[in-house]
Amino acid sequence: MAEQRELLQLYPAQNKVPLTGLYLSRNIKSSIAAAEIPCVYTNFLTSLDGRISLVDRETGKSSVPDATSNDRDWRLLLELAAPADAIIMSGRYLRDLAASDAQALPPFSGDTPPDLKEYRKQSGLPEKPELVFITRSLDIPVRALDMLAGRKLCIATVRNVNSATRDQLEKRDIELLSLGEYSVDGRHLIDALSARGHKLIYSIAGPEVLYTLLTAGVLQRIYLTTVLRVLAGEAYATMVRGPKLVPPFDFSLSAMYLDRYGPDGVEQLIQVYSRFERE
Ligand SMILES: NC(=O)c1ccc[n+]([C@@H]2O[C@H](COP(=O)([O-])OP(=O)(O)OC[C@H]3O[C@@H](n4cnc5c(N)ncnc54)[C@H](OP(=O)(O)O)[C@@H]3O)[C@@H](O)[C@H]2O)c1
Repeated sequence: MAEQRELLQLYPAQNKVPLTGLYLSRNIKSSIAAAEIPCVYTNFLTSLDGRISLVDRETGKSSVPDATSNDRDWRLLLELAAPADAIIMSGRYLRDLAASDAQALPPFSGDTPPDLKEYRKQSGLPEKPELVFITRSLDIPVRALDMLAGRKLCIATVRNVNSATRDQLEKRDIELLSLGEYSVDGRHLIDALSARGHKLIYSIAGPEVLYTLLTAGVLQRIYLTTVLRVLAGEAYATMVRGPKLVPPFDFSLSAMYLDRYGPDGVEQLIQVYSRFERE
């Protein structure tokens, strides 16, 4: 089985380590922060030239390139989701889901490895993490909500949104959090999730949400897989988008692994970065 092929740990020690359990065995909560602070972390899959998504010229839709997506990285994403209380996604995802353009169902909605279901059970967690969708437009197709029936959902949006969707959400008992004037404020978002009892908060959204979490000063860790392929392409996204960060946000390397079994046998680097705080 592909998952049984080992990784070579490069930092901090040099070792052979199994892929399965890599992130589960590194207890995210205890390795990030003190118990009373919610842990906020994210992950990205990128090409060597920094593309996290490419835009299709014909449809104008952006998606994770086939050249980088792979089962081993997906396994790691699911392992990061396994201990999470809440998973942050974007309104764009719900529109893609409704249009049958989403590349995957949210973690714990599609095929879920039995060991990860068992992990949640043994940890005393609800069967599935809550899904939190950030949206400014509140342009949320009802079909997407129906497709996620059975999941606990909430929508984080801005104040004074005038939309019929608001009524649809109320009818379905989906909580609407109003957390900013023109954009959801990252700090208010994490405070609101913390007030719901959430301690581990995992963002699988893209560049704008990362900017929101960084500028709010709440993001503590980035899990990054870099496939050693150069893709180019003129319309693309990188990990983060927003006005220049002054000063920049600094990270330090916590761990790095070489995986020789990435897409089409191409190597990929698996990296863990933690927020670097100056004393
Ligand atoms: N390779 C990877 O690891 C990776 C990871 C994540 C995403 N991606 C790709 O990147 C592309 C974009 O993904 P994404 O939509 O998740 O990206 P995003 O840029 O984080 O989110 C965009 C949408 O989220 C909402 N949003 C973000 N920040 C907000 C804020 N502060 N306040 C209110 N609303 C906010 C808005 O939704 P509304 O339009 O509904 O207002 C906005 O259009 C997709 O192609 C995705 O597949 C790749």
